[in-house]
Amino acid sequence: MKNTYVAKLTFDSVKVGSGLDAALKKKRHEVIDEISASGLKGRGGAGFPTGVKWNLTASAAADEKFVVCNADEGEPGTFKDRVLMTKYADLLFEGMTIAAYAIGASRGYLYLRGEYEYLRKGLEEVLEKRRKAKLLGPKGKGRDFSFDIEIRMGSGAYICGEETALIESMEGFRGEPRNRPPFPVDTGFYKRPTAVNNVETFLWAASIMSKGAKWFKAIGTERSAGLKIFSVSGDCDRPGVYEFPMGISVMQLLDKVGARNAKAVQIGGASGICVPTSEFNRKIAFEDISTGGSIIVFGPGRDMLHIAKNFLEFFVEESCGQCTPCRVGNAKLIEGVEMLEKGECSTDYLNELCKLGETMQLASKCGLGQSSPNAFLSIIKHFNKEIMGRCPAI
Ligand SMILES: Cc1cc2nc3c(=O)[nH]c(=O)nc-3n(C[C@H](O)[C@H](O)[C@H](O)COP(=O)(O)O)c2cc1C
Ligand code: SF4
Repeated sequence: MKNTYVAKLTFDSVKVGSGLDAALKKKRHEVIDEISASGLKGRGGAGFPTGVKWNLTASAAADEKFVVCNADEGEPGTFKDRVLMTKYADLLFEGMTIAAYAIGASRGYLYLRGEYEYLRKGLEEVLEKRRKAKLLGPKGKGRDFSFDIEIRMGSGAYICGEETALIESMEGFRGEPRNRPPFPVDTGFYKRPTAVNNVETFLWAASIMSKGAKWFKAIGTERSAGLKIFSVSGDCDRPGVYEFPMGISVMQLLDKVGARNAKAVQIGGASGICVPTSEFNRKIAFEDISTGGSIIVFGPGRDMLHIAKNFLEFFVEESCGQCTPCRVGNAKLIEGVEMLEKGECSTDYLNELCKLGETMQLASKCGLGQSSPNAFLSIIKHFNKEIMGRCPAI
């Protein structure tokens, strides 16, 4: 944190307490209407509309409901949630409390990445402060519902960031994705309706309740409203945590972070896509290039095959092994990359590997396997000359 550059973020200007006060003056469904009107979509990567998620959880019939903050942050190149939890824990817990009010939840959980254990003490202190101020706990201070938040630790498995694997892990089982449907909004933690949202999503929800849906909706693009927090790393002058409006072009972003000679940018972490210079005019938005916020810049000297291999090694390590396309597919892709490195992969076999990657995208059970070939496929597509130069001539 000490060494991470953090740009000025909107959350600095949101008065803690103002969002919850505004929410509690509204009826539960009006809070959900406000979030829906803002156009807020989940900031964890998939971009599911937050208002829809909260509405589905609120409408599900059950004796108990839960709010879960996904703070697993395992995507390579992502560190914004770590910074957000360090700087804005109070506002984050306020966002979770607003969600609890809106959906009718009595308990909240923050699922914290195992490597962030050192953040736990500070987070617990903020929770205790909120309990003392009657902002958490039994009914009180304008709250006609009881709600408290508990921290649950992850253990360093990337797959536990996938919401159903996260729920399995919270229930004390091995972190493996569940079959969907049913979805957590209906059958989540202990089979109860559960709204799982990213750290940043809760912070925007609290900010929207404070500043109004219109403020958020006026920023960004028609289909991707608002602002987004990015973790920028790699070959640039100023790596760090930034806030930009949705719809910013790759080129504009690179300019702001001092990346002048980038050869490629990995957008969305290991599971994202590798964007070449010819596509730097594309937009970072749900309708074009979608991302949970990880931006890794590659300078002119980088070996693209080495990058593909590095991401594939990550997926071989992190696959939970439940389904064949992901378990076997990633191992086969890496074998192919090793053949390319030795100059032993024919163009025909490389084409077969690309078909395998497409099958993995379609047939894998969860988002990990579905997205694991993305970097490999986009590198083969956009850096064909560099890669094909390693195939033996026929
Ligand atoms: C393999 C994998 C890892 C994930 N890791 C995270 C994570 O660390 N944090 C996160 O918020 N979402 C992560 N997600 C997405 C979650 O499943 C879920 O969509 C998200 O927490 C929903 O929150 P949002 O709607 O606020 O984005 C991951 C998904 C997959 C497939
Ligand atoms: S796609 Fe991979 S991580 Fe997901 S269930 Fe299948 S083996 Fe597990």
